[in-house]
Amino acid sequence: MLLSLEVLLTLALCASAASQMPLGRPPLPHLGDEEVSPFLVGSRRQRGANGEEGDASKTRTFTPTNYTVVQDFFVQSLPGFNSSGFDPLTSSFGLIDRSPSRWTSFRHAVDELNRDADEHTAYKVFYVARHGEGVHNVAERVHGSSEWNRYWSMLNGDGNLTWGPDPLLTHVGVSQAERNTAAWAKEARAGVPLPQSLYSSPLSRAMSTLEITWRDLLFSKIAPVVKESLREVTGVHTCDKRQTKSYIHKHYPSFIFEVPFSEHDQRWSPDWRESDRQATFRLQQALNDLFATDTSTYISITAHGGAIGAFLRACGHPNAATLGVPTGSMLPVVIKAVDHRSAQNELLAGGQSIAAPPRPTRVPRGPERRSVEL
Ligand SMILES: *[C@@H]1O[C@H](CO)[C@@H](O)[C@H](O)[C@H]1NC(C)=O
Ligand SMILES: *[C@@H]1O[C@H](CO)[C@@H](O)[C@H](O)[C@H]1NC(C)=O
Ligand SMILES: *[C@@H]1O[C@H](CO)[C@@H](O)[C@H](O)[C@H]1NC(C)=O
Repeated sequence: MLLSLEVLLTLALCASAASQMPLGRPPLPHLGDEEVSPFLVGSRRQRGANGEEGDASKTRTFTPTNYTVVQDFFVQSLPGFNSSGFDPLTSSFGLIDRSPSRWTSFRHAVDELNRDADEHTAYKVFYVARHGEGVHNVAERVHGSSEWNRYWSMLNGDGNLTWGPDPLLTHVGVSQAERNTAAWAKEARAGVPLPQSLYSSPLSRAMSTLEITWRDLLFSKIAPVVKESLREVTGVHTCDKRQTKSYIHKHYPSFIFEVPFSEHDQRWSPDWRESDRQATFRLQQALNDLFATDTSTYISITAHGGAIGAFLRACGHPNAATLGVPTGSMLPVVIKAVDHRSAQNELLAGGQSIAAPPRPTRVPRGPERRSVEL
């Protein structure tokens, strides 16, 4: 059964409100719906307050302060992994166990981690997907990266190709997304845990990729959610400017929006570009948000090269510096989150945006506390 948009929006509002709430809040009322929904926040079949065992596939929701990558499952998470020639779509997404029962064992192991975890710890599996090839990827190839960054990325097109704002997938990009679907279908026959929630960047190339990948397999059960914090590193490059909320709603009617979601793009500026540090901080906030509002264990996000790099840095991935996800590909990452008094929140924010106009200099009084423009 598909939840109505109205119900989902109400739930989204609840989810947004819930993110502000502390640990141990009362569960939302049972909705009488047995489908997996991305918004069943703190709901049914969790471990109860007395610690009695519930559905081990559901994790708790809270705001953790320390993320680490569990290195036991995927080759790409082993320190020193050399990604040269590695294609996750033809190698069971990099799962180390290649036996026929590999995904059943994986699921049991993840369930066990959550079952044995203390009340401050949760484990989630993120399926981190990158959009298929977009027109801007072709343009960057045609003009070369340095000319692209110096000049062409700031324009909407070159007379031959149009990439701004918000470029669409090329035919190659569509095929790449279809290849991703085929890889999922193959692993699904071997029992891979399918995502219980789907999130996308608000840029068309990501939403189209998500749609192609999951429409037939999951859209009847799960409404994908557009999430601003998953967008590509923003500013200056026209390919990273999004469309209005109305446009997205019209062209991607199956998608629902996180709350709040602004009509116009408030994060893109022609004058400044987010720094890597700022993007890392933004993706760390996205992780906080997902761990605080979504009880799903298996979560799919569809994003971008730069945003995925920031995601890998935010969760402390051992190969964040070298691991890339090619267009249209996907990598699983098992993340352990700890929310505990002893966990320290490492401040990743700070620094000035790239290409930002110079700020007026003023001697700050005491330690400088400037919020990040995102
Ligand atoms: C990774 O493997 C490739 C091909 O085997 C090799 O050429 C390259 O030097 C390796 N890179 C590192 C950092 O070891
Ligand atoms: C547009 O395409 C034509 C024909 O392939 C080529 O000669 C021209 O250089 C291209 N223009 C730009 C700006 O790349
Ligand atoms: C984060 O967790 C890891 C592993 O549990 C631990 O070694 C590290 O000290 C923690 N970091 C902080 C900042 O708490």
